[in-house]
Amino acid sequence: MAKITASVFTSHVPAIGAAMDLGKTQEDYWKPLFAGYEFSKQWMKDNKPDVIILVFNDHATAFSLDMIPTFAIGTAAQYLPADEGWGPRPVPVVKGHPELASHIAHSVIQQDFDLTIVNKMDVDHGLTVPLSLMCGEQDPVKGVWPCPVIPFAVNVVQYPLPSGQRCFNLGQAIRKAVESYDEDINVHIWGTGGMSHQLQGARAGLINREWDNAWLDQLINDPVAAAATPHIDYVREAGSEGIELVMWLIARGAMSDIEGGQATGPAPQLRHRFYHVPASNTAVGHVILENV
Ligand code: DHB
Ligand code: FE
Repeated sequence: MAKITASVFTSHVPAIGAAMDLGKTQEDYWKPLFAGYEFSKQWMKDNKPDVIILVFNDHATAFSLDMIPTFAIGTAAQYLPADEGWGPRPVPVVKGHPELASHIAHSVIQQDFDLTIVNKMDVDHGLTVPLSLMCGEQDPVKGVWPCPVIPFAVNVVQYPLPSGQRCFNLGQAIRKAVESYDEDINVHIWGTGGMSHQLQGARAGLINREWDNAWLDQLINDPVAAAATPHIDYVREAGSEGIELVMWLIARGAMSDIEGGQATGPAPQLRHRFYHVPASNTAVGHVILENV
């Protein structure tokens, strides 16, 4: 049986990828940010998964207003780093896991979550920046990411968006799917994007440390309450792009303490928590949880 053993949560700012790609990680501006991921890179080596389910959002890169899937699972054998206007990031191709991805699609759709199935997709900073942060710099040609990745894209760009509650419930369905996969593999699920940021309009640059940290407390210790956070609270308190945080609830809902929408089992162990401002226009949050 496959098992989800851990969840990882992290922001995905494109400038973080650029700082890594351009060798700027030790500059004064970036140093404290990357210091927060030193533990995580070692933890990834010590707890190497067989597969990562990486919940992220596409930023009008693979999708556009032509086509807006609410939830989309990547079932391809590989995904190329996308060109977001400056050429593709110099990072390795992302290998997929078509067998497990197809199994999850089958199981989750039968649990009444209607996923879009994606057989071809380039992946933007939403996916590659979390991988870079957790796995460190990789040679784009000779390097390989530590394991296959199943991209799981969520629409948090074009309204209407899924609610946090829907995302949390979907996480439980994904765990059931993984646990019915007939191979003894170790799976991590990552929730990415967030935390507070607003990239446009009169409130551009908004950061709300207090709200972010209270939400992190809930994500860790009272996930049912975090899942109940209404949409408008994210937008008011964490800015228009703060809504990316609903993706973290998919990963949190997939942890083993959650059953039937409640936190009934033993709470996961908090292995790491980090919060830093600034990173471009974004507050960066990062948490690692392990199932006990
Ligand atoms: C920034 C943050 C994002 O989440 C994003 O998708 C693009 C840019 C930023 O802070 O610059
Ligand atoms: Fe984003």
